[in-house]
Order: sequence, then structure tokens, then C-alpha cells
Amino acid sequence: MIDMMQLTELPRHVAIIMDGNGRWAEKMGKPRIYGHHKGVDVAIEIVQEALDLGIPYLTLFAFSKDNWKRPKSEISVIMTLMMNSLKSEFQRIIDSQVKINVIGNLSDLSHEVQEVLEDIKHRTANHKGLQLTLAISYESREEIVMATKSIIKKALLGDYKIEEINQDTINQHLYTSSLPYVDFLIRTSGEQRLSNFLLWQSGYAELFFDDTLWPDFSKDDFHKALNEYNNRERRYGKTGQQIKQQIFAV
Ligand code: IPE
Ligand code: IPE
Ligand code: MG
Repeated sequence: MIDMMQLTELPRHVAIIMDGNGRWAEKMGKPRIYGHHKGVDVAIEIVQEALDLGIPYLTLFAFSKDNWKRPKSEISVIMTLMMNSLKSEFQRIIDSQVKINVIGNLSDLSHEVQEVLEDIKHRTANHKGLQLTLAISYESREEIVMATKSIIKKALLGDYKIEEINQDTINQHLYTSSLPYVDFLIRTSGEQRLSNFLLWQSGYAELFFDDTLWPDFSKDDFHKALNEYNNRERRYGKTGQQIKQQIFAV
């Protein structure tokens, strides 16, 4: 067990690519959907832990734009699971002051799923606790294209001068406009890629790849990852010595 009291610095924004559900089930000779069921339970547990630890922003990659290429039967189970878990966990979410936000191309989703998501967003809009963002039908490159198009439209209408467009302008036009940049990005299942997740927002994120398959990812694994984050030195281009001087100056 990792002693969380040892942590001096928590990441402000944690993003997780929850990967490995299918392999976890296949390893046990079960259908892939079995892994998705367990994966939802683990996601709920990690949200609760982030809340208990006082992490302000947590973003979970729940379903990618490319996941639409999967068999229809698997997609349908994932969608039903997402809806049901959001509905069933709802009272607890209300009680714990989690604010739920959804990013992605939501018009790809069925009306039923859209309604559940809209409802939960609306009902938690004024919550002041953990800000939980669910990435559903999300793809980072597409998000950047979308932002570019709306900036160009505004520039053509005269709302922006080309010279005034900067990083903040891009930020304001992404789905994540209300979120800080990602500090810590975790991916489970041993894969070491970003799979089109928060590419812009993770420009300076610390990356952590865990071999554990998502359904096996425990609170203790989460603590270990956070502990590792705590030992990283984020230099942002400066020297290690400069960073140490900065710390001592505080
Ligand atoms: C992640 O697990 C969940 C989703 C992508 C929805 P996978 O379903 O990708 O599991 P693996 O990677 O095939 O094991
Ligand atoms: C990324 O996992 C998407 C989610 C975890 C929701 P994938 O399993 O879809 O990614 P690839 O295909 O292995 O890159
Ligand atoms: Mg996968």
C-alpha cells in the first residue's frame, strides 16, 4: 500500500486511457464485453478515489471516434453500460458534488445516450467538487480541425485579426476550453501510444504507462502512479538547477 501522505504534489488534471478490457476478458476465456462490465466498476472506483484525494480534474477516455469501427454488438454493450452506470451512480454523484462534462462528437451518439449525458451534465453543472470529463466519440485531431474551422469563420467575420490568434485562441475553441492542461496522463494495458487522445492538451503532460489491464487497475495502482508523478521533475525547458532554485525561493 502506498502512503498517500507522502505525496507533496498532486497533479491538477489527470487523464486516463482506460485500456485492456477486451484482453482481460479474453485471458479468462470470456467474451470481451465481460471486460467492459468490470471496466466500468473500476472507472467508478477510480473516480471516487480521485475525489477522495482531492484531484480537481479527471478526464477519462471512455470511447474513441475510432471505436465505432468495432463490431456493432460490442459498441451496443459499451453504450448501454455507460448509460446505465451514469444513471445508477447518479445519486452518489449528486451527493459527492462531482461535476460531469462530456467531450467528443456527441451527435454520433443515439438520442437516448445523448439525453442521459445532457441530463447529467445539466444536473451537475453547479457542482464544485471533482470535475469529471468523459471523452466519448472523441478524437483529438478532429477536435483541432473543429477549432480551426470556427476560428477561421470568426476571423472571416472580423472577430479576430490573424495576428492576434495565439495558443489561448486555440484553447478557447477546443472541447476542453474550461479545463487546465493535462498534468499526468496514465494509460493502462502496456500500450505506449496516445491513440488520438488530448494531443494538444497533453503537450507537457507527464506520461505513465502501466502494464496492468484496466479491469485489474486498483486504487493502489493509482496511488503508485501518483507517487511516480510526484517524483518527476517538470522542467518546461529549464535546467534542473533552475527548478530547484525556484522551489527553494517559494
Ligand atoms: C478499452 O479496452 C475500452 C474501450 C476502448 C472502449 P479495449 O476494449 O480496447 O480492450 P483491449 O485493448 O482490446 O484489450
Ligand atoms: C483507446 O483505446 C480508446 C479508449 C481507451 C477508450 P483503443 O484500444 O481503442 O486504442 P488502440 O486502437 O489500441 O490504439
Ligand atoms: Mg484497447
